[in-house]
Amino acid sequence: MIILGSTGSIGESALDVAAHLGGDYRVVGLAACRSWERMAEQVEAFRPAAVAMSDEAAAARLAARLSESGTTTDILSGPDAMRRLVEELDADFVLSAIVGVAGLDSTLAAVKRGLTVGLANKESLVVAGQLMVDAAAASGAKLIPVDSEHSAIYQSLHSGRHEEIERILLTASGGPFRTWTYEAMRKATLEGALKHPTWDMGPKITIDSATMMNKALEIIEARWLFDISADRIEVVIHPESIIHSMVAFHDGSIVAQMGTPDMRTPIQYAMTYPHRIARAGDRLDFSKLERMHFEPPDVERFPALRLGHEVARTGGTAGAAFNAANEAAVAMFRAGKIGFLDISSQVEDVLRRHEFAETPDLATLMKIDAWSRNEVNTCCRV
Ligand SMILES: NC(=O)c1ccc[n+]([C@@H]2O[C@H](COP(=O)([O-])OP(=O)(O)OC[C@H]3O[C@@H](n4cnc5c(N)ncnc54)[C@H](OP(=O)(O)O)[C@@H]3O)[C@@H](O)[C@H]2O)c1
Repeated sequence: MIILGSTGSIGESALDVAAHLGGDYRVVGLAACRSWERMAEQVEAFRPAAVAMSDEAAAARLAARLSESGTTTDILSGPDAMRRLVEELDADFVLSAIVGVAGLDSTLAAVKRGLTVGLANKESLVVAGQLMVDAAAASGAKLIPVDSEHSAIYQSLHSGRHEEIERILLTASGGPFRTWTYEAMRKATLEGALKHPTWDMGPKITIDSATMMNKALEIIEARWLFDISADRIEVVIHPESIIHSMVAFHDGSIVAQMGTPDMRTPIQYAMTYPHRIARAGDRLDFSKLERMHFEPPDVERFPALRLGHEVARTGGTAGAAFNAANEAAVAMFRAGKIGFLDISSQVEDVLRRHEFAETPDLATLMKIDAWSRNEVNTCCRV
């Protein structure tokens, strides 16, 4: 397998799972951007045939460190290094766990090659859902979701046929500001936004959970992964994050997948599909689980949810504008240049103003991506 984004939160968990599986599950390629020291440790532990570092300076430092230790792993570097890694290495499975649209090129390359792709990088489907789905249909690639919600839906869907689905119930923890008033959210700090109540994740997705942009991205992701219209995807707030999502069928049955909040479970499921292999780790103990809560989402305080449905309905270039504006606005918020509530308003503004195209090619999507980032950056420059 190849692990793209191996130095991140999902990547580290994936390597943990790979070490546990051992045997046939051999890591042949790793990719990251700048974290060369962590990459060196991973190379020494897993001995992949090749690695890709998109940052050239980081690649040079990695090469120097590996030559000192006599390690022979090939190092690819530069902006197309991840794509080349996916195109050139002999692999069956690619775990796509880069954060943001930076993961699109290599994920699309894996899909075009007909490989099985464990998809954590939801942004690539949000930006280029139609292209990804078409490429998978042409090559026979299998897309297995790693996002815990979509893994839960994928597993629940085994209980019925596509035409028997009534709706998909996407659960959401509600993030750290679930119970805050709009006024209090206006003053939300970066530190507060980074305190997720149930999941330990990378910084971008943690902030996306606080704005509920993450759930919006997941609505769009579900629309493409499961070929289901936006109006049949419902968000349910479930603060304990025990039910990871559900599928309601026409006969009134609702099938849910549950477990402790541990990303290694959906990662391993994607890696070993269709098999279930024993895994250590906490098990859900119903004697200790006193209650599970559910509540409807508040789209007034979390407008991202309304936007997520709108983008899933509209398609075309809407996902690219939405995602790029969000990535840029999150970066601005992290840099202290905009307030917490500005993230959603910036995204909505860019989404409304972008030049919409219904059936864009990759070049058009990348143009919209660049334009949207520039709009947020220009508007928020102090
Ligand atoms: N974390 C979770 O629990 C979770 C759950 C569900 C879905 N996801 C999704 O999984 C993806 C990864 O999330 P994460 O939380 O693991 O993020 P993260 O901890 O921030 O890690 C991001 C990874 O992407 C790499 N990267 C970033 N930009 C890159 C570039 N231009 N070229 C090459 N590598 C690049 C980083 O490398 P460096 O370390 O070198 O910068 C790092 O390995 C996201 O799409 C997220 O939405 C995450």
